[in-house]
Amino acid sequence: MPYIEVKNSSKFYGTGDNRIVANNDVNFEIEKGELVIILGSSGAGKSTMLNILGGMDTSDEGQVIIDGVDIAQFNSHQRTNYRRDDVGFVFQFYNLVANLTAKENVELASEIVKDALDPVTVLEQVGLGKRLNNFPAQLSGGEQQRVSIARAVAKRPKILLCDEPTGALDYQTGKQVLQILQDMSRNEGVTVIIVTHNSALAPIADRVIHMRDATVKSVKLNNTPQDIATLEY
Ligand SMILES: Nc1ncnc2c1ncn2[C@@H]1O[C@H](COP(=O)(O)OP(=O)(O)O)[C@@H](O)[C@H]1O
Ligand SMILES: [Mg+2]
Repeated sequence: MPYIEVKNSSKFYGTGDNRIVANNDVNFEIEKGELVIILGSSGAGKSTMLNILGGMDTSDEGQVIIDGVDIAQFNSHQRTNYRRDDVGFVFQFYNLVANLTAKENVELASEIVKDALDPVTVLEQVGLGKRLNNFPAQLSGGEQQRVSIARAVAKRPKILLCDEPTGALDYQTGKQVLQILQDMSRNEGVTVIIVTHNSALAPIADRVIHMRDATVKSVKLNNTPQDIATLEY
């Protein structure tokens, strides 16, 4: 059985004339430990799907089976626990706490879950061992994004959901961030799902789910994903 299985999932916002179909009969599967890219232009429904996978939003129809459990059937209490315990989020604009240092931002993970990883170890893993005591404003965009990845990973999530994680970064720092995300999947076995509108990133993924007009247009498996170092975009 696939690790993640989305079946006939639909999501509607608004009612009547204002009704928007954000996800329309979405279907795909993801295996454990894969690096997945959900690709599509603005408005295609990518963030809606990611938020549903992460328990931040709820679907209106269909099944969202994660590790054998249909989270679409969760009540709000179950959904909160799932979001806290099983999911790590990385956003385009980092969402760090401005008056906490890098280390303190990552320490927040241990206030959410019991068995969080050591903040210093995780920050060293993302190459920020020398920036532990810097505040977000003292770090570059790429460094801030690496802190936010460290914070998400410190929770030891089953799945790491990243919405346009390189959207605010320049080319080189964007590549560093992608390298860390690819390493998380390859070396740590974390299932990493990246939403992007940038089709040039597709070659790095094990699986590319292409969304258009609120639904999945194609799913492509890649047995030889490209190393970030050789990626040009
Ligand atoms: N909370 C919301 N309320 C109303 N409409 C929304 C909401 N979230 C997303 N939408 C709409 O759903 C559609 C898909 O949005 P989204 O999933 O954010 O697309 P993408 O991430 O691919 O750009 C868009 O038309 C968007 O305006
Ligand atoms: Mg989006």
